Amino acid sequence: MSSQVAEKSFVTTFVALISALVLLAAVLFMVGALVGVVGNVAPDDGSRKQVAAVERIKPVARVAIAVPQPAGAELKLSGQEVYNKVCMACHATGAAGAPKVGAKDQWEPRFAQGMDTLVKNAVNGIRGMPAKGGNPALSEVNIKDAVTYMLGETGIKTDTAN
Ligand code: HEC
Repeated sequence: MSSQVAEKSFVTTFVALISALVLLAAVLFMVGALVGVVGNVAPDDGSRKQVAAVERIKPVARVAIAVPQPAGAELKLSGQEVYNKVCMACHATGAAGAPKVGAKDQWEPRFAQGMDTLVKNAVNGIRGMPAKGGNPALSEVNIKDAVTYMLGETGIKTDTAN
C-alpha cells in the first residue's frame, strides 16, 4: 500500500466517521428536543392538541343524507305538540264549528261516542274536520295523543292518560 492510498483510505474513513457522529448528534438532539417538549406540556395538553388536529383535518363540507321516512312512520310528537302545530288552528277558537278546547259542553256529546270513534273521525275527517287535521304526515297515534290532550285540557278524562 502506497502512502497516498493509505491517506485516501484514512480520509474516507474519517469523513464517514464524522458523518456518523454528526448524524448521531442530530438524532440525540431531536430526541432531547422531543423529550423536552413532551416533558414541558401540561398533562391535559394532549386533548387540546387532538381537538386542534381534529379541527384541522375535519372535512370541508358534509353531505347530509336525509333518511326517507317510510310511509305512515310516526312523527315523534307529543299530543300537545301535535295540537299546537295542527289542531289549535281550529280547535282553540272553534273555527268552522270545531268543538273548542275548554268547552266541555261541546266535547261531552262527542266523547259519548267513545274514544275510538273520535279518533277514527279525526283520522278520516268528518264534515268540517279535515282528515288528520289536514296533515297526512301525522300517524293515528299522533291523532289519538292530540285528541287525548284536547280532552284533557277540556277537563274530560280518558282512560289513556297522557
Ligand atoms: C281546519 C280546521 C280543523 C283542524 C285543523 C282540526 N280540526 Fe278537528 N274538527 C274541526 C271541525 C270543524 C270539527 C267538527 C266537525 C263536525 O262534527 O261537524 C272537528 C271535530 C273534531 C273532532 C270530533 C270528531 C267527532 O267525532 O265528533 C275531533 C276528535 C277532532 N276534530 C280532532 C282534531 C285533531 C286531533 C286535530 C289536529 C290533528 C284537528 N281536529 C284539527 C276542524 C278542524
